[in-house]
Amino acid sequence: MKYGFFDDEKREYVITRPDTPAPWANYLGSPDYGAIISNNAGGYSFAKSGANGRLLRYVFNGNDQPGRYIYIRDNETKDYWSASWQPVGKDLNEYKSECRHGTGYSIFNADYAGIKSTATYYVPLNSAYEIWALKITNDSGKKRELTVTGFAEFTNNSNYEQDQVNLQYSLFISRTLFEKNRVMQQIHGNLSDVEKSKPVDNKIVTERFFGIAGAEADSWCGDKERFVGLYRSYKNPAGIENGNLNNIASYNENSCGAISAKISLNPGEAKTIAFITGMKYSDEADRIISSYSDTENKINTELNELKNWWHSKFRNLQVNTPSKEFNTMINTWNAYNCFMTFIWSRAASFIYCGLRNGYGYRDTVQDIQGIIHLAPEMAKEKIVFMLSAQVNNGGGLPLVKFTHNPGHEDTPDDASYVKETGHPAYRADDALWLFPTVYKYIAETGDLAFLDQKVPYANTDTGTVYDHLKRAVNFSAQRLGPHGLPAGLYADWNDCLRLGKNGESTFVAFQYYYAMTVIRSFAEYKKDSEYISYINDKQAELKKILNELCWNTDRFIRGFTEAGETIGKRTDPEASMWLNPQSWAVISGFADEEQSEKSLDSVNRILNTKYGALLMDPPYHSHAFEGALAVIYNAGTKENAGIFSQSQGWLILAESLLNHGNRAFQYFMENAPAAWNNNAEIRKMEPYCYGQFTEGKASPHFGRSHVHWLTGTASTVMVGCVEGILGLRPDAAGLKISPSIPSEWKGFTMEKNFRDKRLLITVENPEGKESGCSEFYVNGKKLEEAYIPQEMLTETTEVKLIM
Ligand code: NOJ
Repeated sequence: MKYGFFDDEKREYVITRPDTPAPWANYLGSPDYGAIISNNAGGYSFAKSGANGRLLRYVFNGNDQPGRYIYIRDNETKDYWSASWQPVGKDLNEYKSECRHGTGYSIFNADYAGIKSTATYYVPLNSAYEIWALKITNDSGKKRELTVTGFAEFTNNSNYEQDQVNLQYSLFISRTLFEKNRVMQQIHGNLSDVEKSKPVDNKIVTERFFGIAGAEADSWCGDKERFVGLYRSYKNPAGIENGNLNNIASYNENSCGAISAKISLNPGEAKTIAFITGMKYSDEADRIISSYSDTENKINTELNELKNWWHSKFRNLQVNTPSKEFNTMINTWNAYNCFMTFIWSRAASFIYCGLRNGYGYRDTVQDIQGIIHLAPEMAKEKIVFMLSAQVNNGGGLPLVKFTHNPGHEDTPDDASYVKETGHPAYRADDALWLFPTVYKYIAETGDLAFLDQKVPYANTDTGTVYDHLKRAVNFSAQRLGPHGLPAGLYADWNDCLRLGKNGESTFVAFQYYYAMTVIRSFAEYKKDSEYISYINDKQAELKKILNELCWNTDRFIRGFTEAGETIGKRTDPEASMWLNPQSWAVISGFADEEQSEKSLDSVNRILNTKYGALLMDPPYHSHAFEGALAVIYNAGTKENAGIFSQSQGWLILAESLLNHGNRAFQYFMENAPAAWNNNAEIRKMEPYCYGQFTEGKASPHFGRSHVHWLTGTASTVMVGCVEGILGLRPDAAGLKISPSIPSEWKGFTMEKNFRDKRLLITVENPEGKESGCSEFYVNGKKLEEAYIPQEMLTETTEVKLIM
């Protein structure tokens, strides 16, 4: 079943059937103000924090309600509908609707009863409030008298949980009133005579507003129950049915902002108005609303600014391959998804409510990788931030608090940190994620001087970036398990695999191996010969152990438990085959040719499905060891033999590094959201964003996907496609191009900004190969290998690779 299509030119996903199998969402805003909106205008908003700054309510696990509703009422017939299909939900034979999710905005076009409407929702760039613009056109042959009403349901407390569950408190601190062109909600309004600098019990007055620009407010309501009416719903609110909101304030009731405006339209006439909402004090709200007096022009200008901002980021890499699914994901949707994870981490979606009180170390360091090629300066800033969350012993803080204060933080060694964050100990892998991320940043920019930049440690001490990385290596070197592999500590990437403090994970061992390769290249640049020989010895030791203990005929094992049990042997009755150790054996550069080929063949034979490769198989059920937490999940779900999407990116990269273009692309397609657009009822999630996992073959719902948007998948798949399939592999001195593509591609082109120069790259594949290069030209000059040295870059550099 198909619910929509990709409008690649506009970079919009267009939903033509609003009855999608799940709410299909978009993100609006910035770290200062976030809004999430579904294709039926469901969703919520928050200032700064999804957990503590929630101003618009949304009921999780509900019916995609409430939302940012705009009702339109014909005052002659008394019929009414909504600018988004829901909540009124008119018969789709009569109500024509289209939702266009774009980059930082969503548009709802509706056509009903001779009235056309376009509702556009966005957060203006560098602003902390949101606009619901409505253009309404009389497409009938007669004059129409309409009432247009905007409705926003406020939370009674900015803390999401307090609002939902502690009603004996939160109901009695909220009230609304009307001023000029806006409903003002006050939380703790009774503290108005207490100075802001002297909060009572840490509380001050907070205000939210819901205002109208471009039309006069005819009536208003600040009380949700009175607006909706008893035993009614958002589908048929009393205030809409009556055509009058009766100017009602709330006081100890659920608050809302609802404003009606009367609009007369001659045949063919159109009018634009805007509802505006945010968390601002009244004078600031007044200033904001007044600035929209030239409503239509201001909205158009702001939307153009927003589009330009986003599209200019995407222009840093654009590809044109024979696969429209690949193009749309790389050029727009995977890139956009990467920015969302970069900005929101795992804070706010329809699945995550924002209660996680910080950034996960490994998540954030990985998320950065997805945008390095598009916004290296943004990446650098975040890398520095994450380095400043590294403890001076070299380990990463498992959770970096939103209040992170470098140089002054407590650590997992302090009871206070454990109590506040709930993280009992360091994790074996956190700081090891820095190596690919820092390497990719330096390779993209050539900014080797970054290695000498000084950055504070989280608790105490300051060191250069190079020093931070050395300490990360040291952290692992000092925490080895009984076999000499990095000890599991609290966990590795897999939350459901607790090997024990002294357990050992091959995944982490491969990360450690790779970290040593990266730091050796930096040590070479720094001419740090003593350190180079130290690393050479360490890496050789590690290699020996991995080869002797972890290679199991046709696969790498998953690790050893603290009790000495081997996990992931081919003879195990359950979980005998694991995906990540196989792909990371290749990515890390550890596996030799035979191991690489055999282990990835095993993946293909044992784990692959039409929706991607299982994280492991068979699922745990009767043979789970004590730390095999995956067994808590239904078989075929999440870590228990689900298709974990993040791991697909690593698999794509690994296959590409082995020059298996056909397989790399096959894995891309199996799990690519866009590739399921025409069968969206199977995947159920948005066809334009990744999710955390897809149910595996052990599930009766094989193929259904979950946990939309905020997942590490966006960045791993981006890296797998850009470095892997497209073969764009920069290093500090230039750019290597080594595509690994399906043999049926006859060629493709790419445009890439690289170190302030524009590269126009053409790849030709006349003989139907999967990889390799037979001829390579830079600005017409033939070179021996497919590598562009930095000094050959010109303003526009034309590159041709013949495979
Ligand atoms: C924790 C990682 O940070 C996250 O990205 C991943 O989804 C899970 N582990 C997998 O278990």
